[in-house]
Amino acid sequence: MNILLLVFPIPLLTVLFAQPIYGFESLGAHDVPHFRTLPCPNPEDIAPCICTYTADKGVMDMDCMNISDEEELYQVFHSLIPIPTFGKLSLPSDRLTTLTDEVFRVATFEDVIINCSNDCEPTLTTVGPNTFIKSVSTLMSLTMYPTNISEFPFDTIQEYVNINAFILNDSPLSIFPTISSETLLTLVLINDTFREIPAHILDELPNLKQLELGWNSIDSLGKDVFASLPDIRQIVMVNGGLRHLHSRQFAVTSPNLYVIVLESNLIETVDPDTFIGLQSSTIQLVGNKLTLLPEATWKPLLDSGVILQLAGNDLTCGCDVAWIVLEPTYHPLV
Ligand SMILES: *[C@@H]1O[C@H](CO)[C@@H](O)[C@H](O)[C@H]1NC(C)=O
Ligand SMILES: *[C@@H]1O[C@H](CO)[C@@H](O)[C@H](O)[C@H]1NC(C)=O
Ligand SMILES: *[C@@H]1O[C@H](CO)[C@@H](O)[C@H](O)[C@H]1NC(C)=O
Ligand SMILES: *[C@@H]1O[C@H](CO)[C@@H](O)[C@H](O)[C@H]1NC(C)=O
Repeated sequence: MNILLLVFPIPLLTVLFAQPIYGFESLGAHDVPHFRTLPCPNPEDIAPCICTYTADKGVMDMDCMNISDEEELYQVFHSLIPIPTFGKLSLPSDRLTTLTDEVFRVATFEDVIINCSNDCEPTLTTVGPNTFIKSVSTLMSLTMYPTNISEFPFDTIQEYVNINAFILNDSPLSIFPTISSETLLTLVLINDTFREIPAHILDELPNLKQLELGWNSIDSLGKDVFASLPDIRQIVMVNGGLRHLHSRQFAVTSPNLYVIVLESNLIETVDPDTFIGLQSSTIQLVGNKLTLLPEATWKPLLDSGVILQLAGNDLTCGCDVAWIVLEPTYHPLV
């Protein structure tokens, strides 16, 4: 007996742990036992969600793209889930309307993606302030597009101590949100419906590196709105409604900002000091409505090593640009 135990300790352990925790129950309840892959729940308990365990990463993902409504989602997360700590959660934004505070019970997630295909009609309208509250220390990204969300509990984002990306695209979000977060690196709000980025609205995002706000009709920008982002690297505002840029609207304090992309706006004029503080970066102004390049605006920037990309503008090559034409050191920069 002793010898057997000594010779076979590993297989014995394997057999013990390979048994599903609720294996006996499954055997009693069904003709054919459905053994789950530890540590996922039994597949029939969570259908139509599918749990996938990636052993080398030690992560369980939950794909619930085939869920039909909130009631079914609630049932899934109120079934027997031996280990309720998941990596990625995928949900459809065209079959759920509300994610209540209780829907996920005790389950935690690292990456949540709520989306649907290009031609879908998104119905997701409401996310509760505590829907993901169990994930305060695990959630790293929340990605939603398209949705019918016009209001979101943005004030709760600061509670998520590891969140680094928040993405809410293709949604009827008509007011630029106030978000505070010590950890957020990436904020993406593309193709929503807000038109204004008010001054000071980005003051509480000290680690933000990437800001993507394309395909909004933004035509109003607060003074110094980006100057409070000490480590911003990239600002992308393509396909917006900017027409006249005024002093300090793109004032910069981050030494690491390498590109501001303003392609396909309606920009006609740029006042001096609009981009004050910018150094050794690229300003991409392709496809705007610039006709003049006044020296007072652009010479200080070129002198700081800024590169301008100006294709697709109707620049009049008159004496206005003589200051560039006559100084060959500017030629590689324009
Ligand atoms: C969803 O359902 C479709 C059709 O029944 C199936 O082909 C697909 O594999 C399912 N996907 C998931 C993630 O459950
Ligand atoms: C949802 O997003 C994920 C990740 O970006 C992607 O792989 C998937 O194809 C998307 N689903 C739909 C229905 O577009
Ligand atoms: C979208 O949300 C609005 C309320 O904000 C609601 O009136 C409308 O019915 C919702 N649309 C869909 C398709 O769910
Ligand atoms: C913007 O979002 C709407 C739905 O809100 C969608 O129909 C449209 O295709 C999107 N446009 C782009 C350029 O992604």
